[in-house]
Amino acid sequence: MILVRTVAAVRDVVRSARAEGRRVGLVPTMGAFHRGHVSLMSRAREECGFVVVSLFVNPAQFNEAADLARYPRDEGGDAALAGNAGVDVLFAPDASEVYPAGFATTVEVTGITEPLEGAVRGTAHFRGVATVVAKLFNMVQPDAAYFGQKDAQQALMIRRMAKDLDFPIEVVVCPTVREDDGLAMSSRNALLDADSRRRATALSRALRAVERTVAAGEREAASALASGRAELAAEGIEAEYFAAVSVDTLQPVDRIESETLIALAARLGAARLIDNVIVRPPGATR
Ligand code: PAJ
Repeated sequence: MILVRTVAAVRDVVRSARAEGRRVGLVPTMGAFHRGHVSLMSRAREECGFVVVSLFVNPAQFNEAADLARYPRDEGGDAALAGNAGVDVLFAPDASEVYPAGFATTVEVTGITEPLEGAVRGTAHFRGVATVVAKLFNMVQPDAAYFGQKDAQQALMIRRMAKDLDFPIEVVVCPTVREDDGLAMSSRNALLDADSRRRATALSRALRAVERTVAAGEREAASALASGRAELAAEGIEAEYFAAVSVDTLQPVDRIESETLIALAARLGAARLIDNVIVRPPGATR
């Protein structure tokens, strides 16, 4: 695996790979790799002859200075993990390479960015993500790009952006990877103290409770969510949001008649965690 820090260098290696007829896959990340990140790299490795992982802690998408300051960073460890996963190139640009002096352009996806994370973190967060991902798409020019369902709203937004801006890139969304006790893997889990780490398992239990309630025939969103809220309450967790929303528009639904996203965000100690599951009522075709 090689480490490159400039747009010119990453374009150079991608150009050579493509000249050899290789399909180019990109996995955008902010580092502090865990098995969730590695699953995206492995999927890219299966589907592409040349795999680029970008590592850039993007200041533009952090709505709290403290969150940016304490975001876990370990480039050496990340390089080792990416190398083991069979990645060809780790692209780790400095902030000045991504946002040179005079930088003045933003990409904004409207509508689906407004509820859930947009409502809590403010719309600047998703503008920051859309802008940096559009830039990474143009810097690397991959054939396919890999994202996690763990960040369901982000994945939906990037699909929308790729379509709306005619990026000739296949957007692949991969399943959420979890710890054995159900906690969704996240770089922010490193910020949990022992007690918060234990309580954090209530998030996936809450989502599973909703899933079970829907599988048992409940179609009222409020009743299905109540079963999950009980799991959170048992650990004294008050969600920032815990909602049943359309998988396409992310607008709340009253009844769960087709595939529905159950999305959850909560603060535990120093960490803000998000998780989700897609539920489908018995008999529904999608
Ligand atoms: P980051 O949080 O580092 O995540 C990089 C990718 O890994 C994202 O697509 C995310 O959804 C995926 N991911 C994280 N946890 C996962 C899990 N448990 N299972 C499966 N996939 C998981 O998301 C970002 O970085 C940034 O917003 C980025 C897209 C890189 C733009 O800066």
